[in-house]
Amino acid sequence: MFCMPRLRAFSGIQPTADSLHLGNYLGALRQWIDLQSSYDCVYSVVDLHALTVTPDPEALRRRVRVTAAQFLAAGVDPDQSVLFVQSQVPQHSQLTWLLNCVTGFGEASRMTQFKDKAAKIGEQGVTVGLFDYPVLMAADILAYDAHVVPVGEDQRQHIELSRTLANRLNARFGEGTAQVPEALIIKETARIFDLREPNAKMSKTGHPAGIIELLDDPKTITKRIKSAVTDSGTEVAWDPVAKPGLANLLAIYSALTGQPVQTLVEQYQGKLYGHLKADLAEVVVEALRPIRRRTADLLDDPSELDRILDQGKDKARGIAQGVYGRIAERFGLAVQEA
Ligand code: AMP
Ligand code: TRP
Repeated sequence: MFCMPRLRAFSGIQPTADSLHLGNYLGALRQWIDLQSSYDCVYSVVDLHALTVTPDPEALRRRVRVTAAQFLAAGVDPDQSVLFVQSQVPQHSQLTWLLNCVTGFGEASRMTQFKDKAAKIGEQGVTVGLFDYPVLMAADILAYDAHVVPVGEDQRQHIELSRTLANRLNARFGEGTAQVPEALIIKETARIFDLREPNAKMSKTGHPAGIIELLDDPKTITKRIKSAVTDSGTEVAWDPVAKPGLANLLAIYSALTGQPVQTLVEQYQGKLYGHLKADLAEVVVEALRPIRRRTADLLDDPSELDRILDQGKDKARGIAQGVYGRIAERFGLAVQEA
């Protein structure tokens, strides 16, 4: 029977914390898992990106493994998908340089995440690496001819830049130089908010009380959900503008149980916020329990994790070498066979 080749998905998460959080899980990772049945998936622990926050080398080494273990624990299947560590595939850095040479300084300066991070760090501390981060991200995506990129809302502008750069390469060097990628963002979970500051996104750099980590123990999860900031009203209703804290809890509840928000709102009519929080705490604890257990098992067996990452590295290199060679040649570079 004739089989259409599958489209390719690529995505990455930075190893910048000892645990991923619920925003990473609902915004990105859960999509990654679902896509495996219909796409050819390539997923990466993007450690080169993590260097932009100058991590301690020992912490970086540990976090690369913990992050990879959480991908697997959440359901990335290494026999079906490619799972690898970015720095083990040199084409990411090589392609970044080529893309640097077709990216406008003004265009890179307009990246809002760069502007936000730069404003926080202050001019003295901003590195060229931080500025170049979106170009490295474009190289990640283009090096695999990715058709789709499953991410949360905060990455939309970066993917738009990847599309612009791919289109530019095609216009300059001919169609077929680069695959133009598309962002895959699920509306309902595109932005999970901080439990203490429901107008800010949940982030690894936020206050711990506002974050649910995938590896948190049940007691911590319960405490954080029960003390989540909600408005002073009593009626459970879906109103992201007037009741952002409650809307965030409902969005998390709905995403983890598959029940539509409207059904939840009806279910909690006449009940207090406290009831909803207590039930949600249980839902989150049970959803994360197997991920926490499997992560611990994987970290207890370092040779198995090494084997998986080694196999992923070989498969990733196999794809990226070919794509990089094609693009570099169009630039006029004499590409060496590997
Ligand atoms: P990072 O931790 O910045 O490497 O992000 C990894 C992935 O998680 C990216 O696809 C982000 O868009 C996604 N993500 C991070 N924070 C959130 C959030 N609060 N809500 C939804 N998605 C998020
Ligand atoms: N910049 C992304 C983030 O902070 C992580 C990332 C790096 C990424 N390279 C990527 C995401 C390629 C998707 C595709 O979340």
